[in-house]
Amino acid sequence: MNFLDNLFKSKQARTSSFNRWPGLINAYRDYLNIDSETEIISLCEGNTPLILSPAIAKACGVPGLKVYIKFEGANPSGSFKDRGMTMAVTKAIASGLRIMICASTGNTSAAAAAYTACARSLGYHDAKCVVLVPDGYIALGKLAQAIIYGSQVIQVAGNFDQALNIVRELADKHPIALVNSVNPDRIEGQKTAAFEVCDQLNGFAPNILCIPVGNAGNISAYWAGFKQYYNFGVSKTKPRMFGFQAAGAAPIVLGKPVENPETIATAIRIGNPASWHMAEAAVKESNGLIDSVTDEEIIEAYKLIHSAQGICCEPASAASVAGLIKVSRQGKIDPEATIVCVLTGHGLKDPQTAIDSSQFSPIKTEASMDSVARALNL
Ligand code: F0G
Repeated sequence: MNFLDNLFKSKQARTSSFNRWPGLINAYRDYLNIDSETEIISLCEGNTPLILSPAIAKACGVPGLKVYIKFEGANPSGSFKDRGMTMAVTKAIASGLRIMICASTGNTSAAAAAYTACARSLGYHDAKCVVLVPDGYIALGKLAQAIIYGSQVIQVAGNFDQALNIVRELADKHPIALVNSVNPDRIEGQKTAAFEVCDQLNGFAPNILCIPVGNAGNISAYWAGFKQYYNFGVSKTKPRMFGFQAAGAAPIVLGKPVENPETIATAIRIGNPASWHMAEAAVKESNGLIDSVTDEEIIEAYKLIHSAQGICCEPASAASVAGLIKVSRQGKIDPEATIVCVLTGHGLKDPQTAIDSSQFSPIKTEASMDSVARALNL
């Protein structure tokens, strides 16, 4: 079968599967490093919505701008990490490994724990997951996920960078699968988000992709995906990659590691990203940029995304939108551009930040129509 036949077949498979999405490995198998014999560990991740956002366009000061949200919070464990994790756990199980380990600011650990549970459901009863998280710096929902999915949680008295060093060393010395994004299988799975964006835009990449940057795996994966789709002739264009770090955790912007990273966006509270050089290459090759946004800018965008657009994301995700608003107010955006902002994780993971950052507080009344009417000044 030639390349075009394959392409046609996989496209047909994708379009005819909208009612029953088969998970991203099955949907994009032709573009991924996986053979047909391997048993897939999948929770039907991927196929997340691309949502047009007039509210963000307006906040950019360019009302006609086409800004879309790639809403990765719609994945099974509530973040983009599921894309990499279906691949990483699939490959780990196939190679005979049964213990998954990762360091995490919360989402990787939730996804690793979920896919390990999924492996158990397929008969790998001895599959186990161990997650190292920075003690006190992980959103409650993410901690709850790791626990309830049945992983062993270790709270480390240190930050993500220190935890990552520990798990790398452990995985070097023991037969354990390291499922952080330093594992190339993770990047392979995460590439599919770029494929989906091009499919959703009818065979074109956006002009600009805005994305939060923490450990820098995702920006690297998106760029690899856009390049591959372009080189295979599936997408006619490639985007400029715009990465945004939190100002208190912006090593790539500063050009040096940050020893004590600090930001309200705990998911990207990282001072020495593992995929630093790949991220820099993505920005350079795509004629993009990497910039930082303050916690105030992140929270402003976070509130806007919820109250003016109706999408629920976590603070780190809002860095992509905060960054777009920042650079468009600096006049760096062509008003004709099509832009995609990646919202990487679901807001329900971090209800505390939602409550703390909101100026609205509930009104308490007695349970009668009169009391409610009075409270509403009706
Ligand atoms: N957004 C969210 C919600 C994240 O959880 C992360 C990373 C990022 C953005 C940044 O992506 O690291 O590929 O540059 N979270 C990791 C974790 C570090 O452990 O869950 P990145």
